[in-house]
Amino acid sequence: MIRLSDKVIADPPVVLAPMAGITNVAFRRLCREHGATPGPTAGAMLYVSEMITSRALVERNQKTMRLVRFAPDERPRSLQLYGVDPAVVGAAVRMIVDDDLADHVDLNFGCPVPKVTRKGGGAALPWHMGLFADIVNSAVRAADGAVPVTVKMRLGIDREHLTYREAALRAQDAGVGYVALHGRTAADFYGGEADWAPIAELAELLDIPVLGNGDIWEADDALRMVRETGCAGVVIGRGCLGRPWLFADLAAAFDGRPDRRMPGLGEVGRTMYRHAELLADWLGEDHGVRDFRKHVAWYLKGFGVGGDLRAALASSSTLTELSDLLGKLDADQPFPADVLGRPRGRTTGHRAVALPEGWLAARDECAVPADAELPDSGG
Ligand SMILES: Cc1cc2nc3c(=O)[nH]c(=O)nc-3n(C[C@H](O)[C@H](O)[C@H](O)COP(=O)(O)O)c2cc1C
Repeated sequence: MIRLSDKVIADPPVVLAPMAGITNVAFRRLCREHGATPGPTAGAMLYVSEMITSRALVERNQKTMRLVRFAPDERPRSLQLYGVDPAVVGAAVRMIVDDDLADHVDLNFGCPVPKVTRKGGGAALPWHMGLFADIVNSAVRAADGAVPVTVKMRLGIDREHLTYREAALRAQDAGVGYVALHGRTAADFYGGEADWAPIAELAELLDIPVLGNGDIWEADDALRMVRETGCAGVVIGRGCLGRPWLFADLAAAFDGRPDRRMPGLGEVGRTMYRHAELLADWLGEDHGVRDFRKHVAWYLKGFGVGGDLRAALASSSTLTELSDLLGKLDADQPFPADVLGRPRGRTTGHRAVALPEGWLAARDECAVPADAELPDSGG
């Protein structure tokens, strides 16, 4: 169990990773529905929002305000913030507290996208440790104990420029509730295998909880990560794409139960419809069903579904059309066991990290990088 405040408790210690374009109010609700299985630790996991850009929040940008949407029964409300300017991040946290927008704020220092690192943001930022510490301190001060603040980061820029030890210690000094570590550098992007050894190292080094992240494809991988690293909890990203029932498996695994879900194609079709319906509730039918398209391949991975039907599902525009097409799936087809434990979602590998001129030479800069606050997807 991880207890960040009276309102923010993860028990079992499982967190849905913030994923831009994915972990919106609809997907979080779907995951909560699956995770809330009966049992001693029923459904009290944390489900974090997709990242919200601090400047856009402070400016009350309309699109951003729509992203800051929680279901009426969603508790705790976990919001991830991305920012590069201590004052703006502080103002965003103050706004979250004053307007009662969330119960928990997570800070994103893991984005590897070139557009962001090229400006000194995302996973490039902790290299400038002074600025990193200023941002985290500013957020914790602005929260003033009203909401817990946590930090999510990668190992560093690349193997020659690791930042996680010092950044984690600075975050702990600032008073964050936990540090979540993704066992990859920005250069690793999403390729290869996540390195869990640094997670074990941080778990040993810090007094606050350390959460491990990277390559948990099945519930048993989560138990293995806890066992092998001594981390206090786990963060689940790509493993739940097209598989929201993974949260039921995780609840079972942490309860010591052996049951794991292997839904047949009929049940997967019903889950797909539910997902699209929740997106339609949030965005309106047209936009919601279009947004659902990107999830189709993840849900159908490994199932025998003809190319035409797959393509039609991935281009449907209304709930009725989607429902008709889902009706054509072979409902009796069992879950394809060969996809278990296999990567899904982004798997692109090593790339050179784009950085601002002179970024690596000036380690302790506190200057705020200009324009690094692009609203972009990534961690
Ligand atoms: C589509 C996508 C969007 C992501 N967006 C964010 C984000 O907004 N904030 C963040 O901290 N990490 C983001 N991440 C990174 C994940 O939170 C997670 O750290 C990463 O996927 C590794 O975990 P996994 O191996 O369980 O997927 C994103 C990842 C993916 C695949």
